Amino acid sequence: MTTASSSRPSSPDAPQRCILITGGAGFIGSNFVHHWCAAHPGDRVIVLDALTYAGNRSNLATLDGNPNLIFVQGDICDADQVAALLKSESIDTVAHFAAESHVDRSILGPGAFIQTNVVGTFTLLEQFRQHWLTQEQPSDYRFLHVSTDEVYGSLAPDDPGFSETTPFAPNSPYSASKAGSDHLVRAYFHTYGLPTLITNCSNNYGPFHFPEKLIPLMIINMLLGKPLPVYGDGQNIRDWLYVEDHCRAIDRVMTAGAPGETYNVGGNNEVKNLDLVQTLCDLVQDMAPTFGWELPVASPQELIQFVKDRPGHDRRYAIDATKIQRDLNWEPEETLETGLQKTVAWYLSHRDWWQPLLSEEYQAYYSKVYT
Ligand code: NAD
Ligand code: DAU
Repeated sequence: MTTASSSRPSSPDAPQRCILITGGAGFIGSNFVHHWCAAHPGDRVIVLDALTYAGNRSNLATLDGNPNLIFVQGDICDADQVAALLKSESIDTVAHFAAESHVDRSILGPGAFIQTNVVGTFTLLEQFRQHWLTQEQPSDYRFLHVSTDEVYGSLAPDDPGFSETTPFAPNSPYSASKAGSDHLVRAYFHTYGLPTLITNCSNNYGPFHFPEKLIPLMIINMLLGKPLPVYGDGQNIRDWLYVEDHCRAIDRVMTAGAPGETYNVGGNNEVKNLDLVQTLCDLVQDMAPTFGWELPVASPQELIQFVKDRPGHDRRYAIDATKIQRDLNWEPEETLETGLQKTVAWYLSHRDWWQPLLSEEYQAYYSKVYT
């Protein structure tokens, strides 16, 4: 992998697609870059990432040396840079992950969320449309926008899961900004015929998940003997999906989905937060010695603390993934049990990855949210 811009190679093994992956140094984006490079080795892959606090160049380190992959540090809000990249790299496919993604940070400072998620998505769409027009509107171009189940709001205990026709009811600045970007993507298909696709997915977990999100935060705090902060009464429900299953779903939608369509993606794994944290405690307690860890507190359950609730905290999310299962033949490969085991094993064996992320900025953020 290089970090400079270069042109499309003209070897006999010419790539089938030239894909721009925005946010490819973040959690899901980097997992997707690994997935796409393995699944489509003939394609050319361009990663565009601003490397915010959530972006981490080392997530792609094992791909260094891959001649079909280049990394560009840049902002999706920079129209000139985006336009130049689309042209110089002859990009025909966009997988759009770049976003401000953490609800708690959106409550502390919503401005960056509007800028990146709304203005950034608009900039990318408009520059891609201009590029597509100059190429005479090829029908095989694709713009896939990666979005969230949070746009649908919160479910009551007996409500059915969110389907693609559930009305939007976002409750946080984060989900409102994602809903705005979803509407823009939809409008670009209906107004201009740009071949767009949208995925709305439930909570992901797995390798390269930034330490401030629930699952990595709990695992790391157990290893460091720090309190495990559970918001409110711990009865909020999330529907968890292993990140590689999400990447496989996005691949299916990109390669077989119908332009203009939305596909909901979920693992059918609804769990209350407190139950999830208790499961993680048991897993870490069992698995830590195998990976050479001696836990500071022998029984991590003792570290659980109930803390002040998140303002406007959505009570329950659940996805109805019937459409993607039926139309695109996608199903998750991991159960919650196997996915969590893999995830705990990854954090137990990658201290070198997460320790440097517990930076001064992280500690300052942590103090603001938890004290
Ligand atoms: P993340 O915060 O881990 O990564 C976001 C990446 O985008 C980072 O690498 C960051 O540097 C980059 N970025 C931020 N602003 C940018 C800008 N202006 N220009 C270029 N790059 C920028 O997020 P994630 O959890 O990997 O989520 C990726 C996408 O998937 C987001 O759009 C999110 O809304 C969506 N999503 C996430 C989940 C989840 O559980 N994490 C679930 C469903 C959907
Ligand atoms: O539903 C998909 C969304 O999942 C994505 O769109 C977001 O980008 C992603 O960040 C995630 O949002 P959540 O707010 O659900 O994830 P988070 O890991 O922050 O929190 C999961 C649940 O755990 C939520 O109910 C809040 C709770 N929580 C979280 C933290 C960080 C706690 O109880 N304590 C904590 O310390």
